[in-house]
Amino acid sequence: MEWQYSLDKIREMATTFWEAVGATKVFAFQGPMGAGKTTFIRELCAIKGVKDSTGSPTFSIINEYEYIGEGTKKIVYHMDLYRLKNEDEALQAGVEDCLYSGHICLVEWPEKAPGLFPDNTLHISIELLDDKTRRLKIADI
Ligand SMILES: Nc1ncnc2c1ncn2[C@@H]1O[C@H](COP(=O)(O)OP(=O)(O)O)[C@@H](O)[C@H]1O
Ligand SMILES: [Mg+2]
Repeated sequence: MEWQYSLDKIREMATTFWEAVGATKVFAFQGPMGAGKTTFIRELCAIKGVKDSTGSPTFSIINEYEYIGEGTKKIVYHMDLYRLKNEDEALQAGVEDCLYSGHICLVEWPEKAPGLFPDNTLHISIELLDDKTRRLKIADI
């Protein structure tokens, strides 16, 4: 499936996204620097009810946020693997533990450690069409 969206439609895009992906837990977002991965992931977190997702994941590899889902406290991980060199570094940072934790994981730069991702990872790409417009593609849906 694929969609195009601008920043003023990002809330609708993110709502559609959560509806499309069902119970998927691990999401790998590919796309060049500036494509809008962080921006979109923050919107996804905001819809879940995360209050504090503004800390810049550019500076930390794993960000853990809380939200209330179905009446209980839940966790969502936002990971940015950009600064990691390889899978070993990702392992040491605790990335695999998060990926298999059963919590929702939203991951930028998955290509830094492709071997760590579970088989049921959903692969998403974000492309820059122009200044304002992005194309989001979900593989296999
Ligand atoms: N439709 C859009 N979706 C997401 N970001 C957009 C869009 N249009 C413009 N932008 C801008 O593009 C930039 C994307 O940056 P960011 O989300 O940090 O990208 P990435 O994490 O992929 O490197 C932001 O400055 C954002 O305001
Ligand atoms: Mg980013």
